[in-house]
Amino acid sequence: MRLALRFVLPLVLALTGVAYALVPLVDQLTLRWFVRDLDMRSTLIADTLYEPLQERLETGKETKIESFFNRITRDERLFAIGYCSAPDAAVLASRLMPKDLLCSSLSRWEQPGDHLLLSSQGPLHVAVITLSGETGALGKLAILHDMSFISRRSEETKRYVLYLFMGLAAVISLITVIIAQLSWRGWMTGMRNVLRGEVLSRRPGIDSRPELREFKPIARDLQILIRELEADTRARDESQMTWTPETLRAILHGELRGGDIIVVSNREPYIHQRRGDRIEVQRPASGLVTAMEPIMRACSGTWIAHGSGSADREVVDMNDRVAVPPEKPSYQIRRLWLSREEEIGYYYGFANEGIWPLCHIAHVRPTFRSRDWAQYVAVNKKFARAVVSEAKTPNPVVLVQDYHFALLPKMIREELPDATIITFWHIPWPNPESFSICPWAQDVITGLLGSSILGFHTQFHCNNFVDTIDRLMEARVDRETFDVSFGGKLTAVRRYPISIAWPPEPDLLLKDLTMCRADVRRINDLPAGHKLGVGVDRLDYTKGIIERFQAIERLLELNPQWIGHFSFVQIAAPTRAEIDEYQHHEAHVRTVAMRINSRFERQGPPPILLKVEHHEPTDVYEYFRAADLCFVSSLHDGMNLVAKEFVAARDDERGVLILSQFTGASRELPEALIVNPYDADQCAAALLLALTMPDSEQRDRMRLMRGLVAEFNVFRWAGRMLLDAAVMRRHNRLIGAGPTGAA
Ligand code: F6P
Repeated sequence: MRLALRFVLPLVLALTGVAYALVPLVDQLTLRWFVRDLDMRSTLIADTLYEPLQERLETGKETKIESFFNRITRDERLFAIGYCSAPDAAVLASRLMPKDLLCSSLSRWEQPGDHLLLSSQGPLHVAVITLSGETGALGKLAILHDMSFISRRSEETKRYVLYLFMGLAAVISLITVIIAQLSWRGWMTGMRNVLRGEVLSRRPGIDSRPELREFKPIARDLQILIRELEADTRARDESQMTWTPETLRAILHGELRGGDIIVVSNREPYIHQRRGDRIEVQRPASGLVTAMEPIMRACSGTWIAHGSGSADREVVDMNDRVAVPPEKPSYQIRRLWLSREEEIGYYYGFANEGIWPLCHIAHVRPTFRSRDWAQYVAVNKKFARAVVSEAKTPNPVVLVQDYHFALLPKMIREELPDATIITFWHIPWPNPESFSICPWAQDVITGLLGSSILGFHTQFHCNNFVDTIDRLMEARVDRETFDVSFGGKLTAVRRYPISIAWPPEPDLLLKDLTMCRADVRRINDLPAGHKLGVGVDRLDYTKGIIERFQAIERLLELNPQWIGHFSFVQIAAPTRAEIDEYQHHEAHVRTVAMRINSRFERQGPPPILLKVEHHEPTDVYEYFRAADLCFVSSLHDGMNLVAKEFVAARDDERGVLILSQFTGASRELPEALIVNPYDADQCAAALLLALTMPDSEQRDRMRLMRGLVAEFNVFRWAGRMLLDAAVMRRHNRLIGAGPTGAA
């Protein structure tokens, strides 16, 4: 309607202007026509009067002539008639003849011109006609017509011309607006299709959508332009931002309009454990928790997780919720309870005996059982129901975490079609051949493709994922953008390298470094100047703990001067202990540590101090601050946040990080000593280098690594995902599609 008004009004005004410009021309033209008519009429009247006038003149009845003229001029347009026998004679005229029209002045009206006389009675047309017959010239006849009707007609003409043009304007604009509306709709539909990529993606003979050939040339350019603009804005914004909890809150409230945030993970951030008559709050050894917890503190919202602690049920309210962090609550944990069968099938079985070894190249065979799969499906459904019940709006932002919930995105999407679902896969994604081992590979991928955004730590894992889709699914992959279109919906596959909070929580750095060094050595019966290495992991076969010990053994073999002068503290958090593979692994780790210790122990403190127990973050940071080196030797790891935590702990800019080339972190921290954990000699050389590295080199390397972790902290990780989600929401609003790009 607004468009129509914007178009019609100017058109009407323009045509009215044209009409006004035309009226004088029309006026002149009609005047000329009227004058010509009056000239002809006057000649006709003169011809008709000739004989009666001659008769009256011959009979000398001049007075009768005047009454004859008066009779004739009853015609409403014929104003007056006058007769002059000679230029000096008096005019014999009808009653209304103007007094100033004399016989002597008649010759003026015989000249060419418009013959218009403006008398006090109004405008008059004067025609002077010489009366001549067979008997010779009789005199002159002045015939005056009233011309006031001409100005009346001119007014009427003006009015008609104006009405005509206004009508014309209305009709033209109506037709134009209708055509414009129809074409605009068609054009907009076309452009929407272009923006959705349908023009480029249409498969002839398969898709029923009409081919929009006319849009093809601009489609790709337009898509590229939009992406460049989005990427440019994001890149500019990102580089100009300082990533803090406040930044994240601002994104949530500004870009996502205060969206409702729901996190789903298997592991909960706080576990309540009963110890006798006390309830202890534990923070689990989990990279996922390390990363997500500061995000939730910043954004509030609800974190749905498996309630696995022995006292978890005792502290929740009637809705199974508990506010955390305990010291200063800022968000809610919603706990879900799993039966023994569910836990065995879903967590130990499908997730950790199936998917975990499948995705990690650690040479442990994956085991897939249909009963585990059934539990995995059931538990995913249970969590989907919880998400729906926790959602306060129809379009929450749901952050789905990890391989425990591959089916969840699709299940949520079915219930909450407008939700923005950001799934993050914290572990590696293998190549298509490896992944196709999974008997439910297609269900897993279909589930994940319910996400709006699917994130991995590295581009390599994104590549593996889209290669797997190409191999196993009937989906379309855009290799330029890494957008996957499946079942009419879009999933953006993106790389988001995870990180840790920066700066670290103040209590983690509270204890002075010198005190940390002294206390850790004292607690472990080590002499004051004793060199110390540290490793902190879950007791998992992917972490390369055995390879690490073998590297230490090799170091001491090759460099016996370090026997008794170097020890390595391995903190190993017990994990997944119900799985045979993990039990064997723990036994193996203990055996190797004992063997190495017994080999070198006689010459001083043992080289390996193995601590298979849970450590709270403050204890872990104390070890990080006390150590001379940290060794991360994962055989395969999505990212590995221990490496980043060690860097964060060293505000003295000392300490050396030895890092496996098979961790995502090695791509971000090249200043670490990068090693292949399978190469014991290389690792031993790295250990020696670390033990003898000058302070200045330690400082230079540590400074660079600290700079990177500070800049690419976990707020940036989450912020980038939320910004991408916000761009996606805006983009979809623009093209009138749902949150996954579905129209
Ligand atoms: O590495 C993947 C991951 O999910 C981490 O995010 C987390 O640290 C760990 O695995 C989970 O271990 P758990 O089985 O003890 O929860």
